[in-house]
Amino acid sequence: MNTLEEPASIEQLRQLARRRLPQQVFDFIDGGADDELALRRNRHELQSAPLVGRALVNVTSIDTTCTIFGKPLAAPLVVAPMGACGLAWPRADVEIARAAASVGIPYVLSTFANTGIEDLADAAEGRLWFQLYPLRDRALRHGLVHRARVAGYEVLVVTVDVPVPGNRERDHSHSRSSLTGLVKNVAGLIWRPRWCWGIACHGLPRFPNAAAGAGAAALAQRAGAQVDATFDWDELARVRDRWPGTLVVKGIQHTNDVQRLASLGMDGIWLSNHGGRQLDAAPGPLSLLQSVTQIQRGHSILIADSGFRRGSEVFKALISGADAVALGRSVLYGAAVAGRAGALHALQIIQRELVQTMAMCGVTHIPAVTSPPCQPTP
Ligand SMILES: Cc1cc2nc3c(=O)[nH]c(=O)nc-3n(C[C@H](O)[C@H](O)[C@H](O)COP(=O)(O)O)c2cc1C
Repeated sequence: MNTLEEPASIEQLRQLARRRLPQQVFDFIDGGADDELALRRNRHELQSAPLVGRALVNVTSIDTTCTIFGKPLAAPLVVAPMGACGLAWPRADVEIARAAASVGIPYVLSTFANTGIEDLADAAEGRLWFQLYPLRDRALRHGLVHRARVAGYEVLVVTVDVPVPGNRERDHSHSRSSLTGLVKNVAGLIWRPRWCWGIACHGLPRFPNAAAGAGAAALAQRAGAQVDATFDWDELARVRDRWPGTLVVKGIQHTNDVQRLASLGMDGIWLSNHGGRQLDAAPGPLSLLQSVTQIQRGHSILIADSGFRRGSEVFKALISGADAVALGRSVLYGAAVAGRAGALHALQIIQRELVQTMAMCGVTHIPAVTSPPCQPTP
């Protein structure tokens, strides 16, 4: 696809996405909470951590395959759950899930996706996980778990870092109903004909799994308002009772929470600051991994996300103790530019960079990443 011959990096895809999407939609995807400190901290931390190259290793064959929850993955990558992806591209959930399937990694469908649980299972052939927000409406919440199980989703991911909506100021600025704001938003659409055409053909995205029914700017607020602020350890245990399969808890930062989750036998712990969209003071992904791996190694599978835009950064997370890295915006920028082909392109960029980094660090297969050969010696 022509538009995709050019972008060589995720940042270039991001710039193309900025040009294709209405400002309001781009900001919904790109933005963070409060002063966007966590957003910047994630990037700074991942970019600035050094790696020390290794020499004189035969690296003609690099193998990125690995095993997570007893199943093979083509690379230690997962596509993170993202609500309202349909604002970026028509049927984006399906398009991204197909891209993930074609590179052999799982796709996590959000509670606030624009595609129904069963519809995605029918449309995408790959490995599917379902992300559950603990909705206030318990019947709806339990119904989602049941539907995911019946539809054959492999893993349930319970997101616990949205007890209240994050303060996304970019979104607020768009939703202010001043006349100038309104005029600016409508005028901006004139310059986004391809996006408008997509909406004209497919309609505004709906939320078939949860009754969010909101536009881009209000989504975080309305979705957050649907999440049950009383959800606690007892409630998590109830979800565990309803889901006999693999269970992952997403949005964990504190080592006490990690220890408690591990002692409860959770299969996976997903370290995250929600891509800088929730607690603005939260540590970045490498700091989280370093604190957690000091207290637990090998109990639960560790997934890390927030800010990953390069394969070298994925490698840094792996040597810091992650079993896999989840990619959010990196893939969504690609989908915003060219649907499935764009998402695939983004995943291929990250995979190619991961292979290059492994070669330059003298690591030929993923299990060997766990030994720390590539960190600077103190
Ligand atoms: C547009 C958007 C929507 C998101 N929606 C959800 C969601 O519905 N559920 C969830 O658990 N996390 C959601 N997240 C957070 C991602 O799952 C992930 O934690 C985060 O995007 C990782 O950071 P990154 O985008 O810098 O890779 C969303 C993130 C974005 C950018």
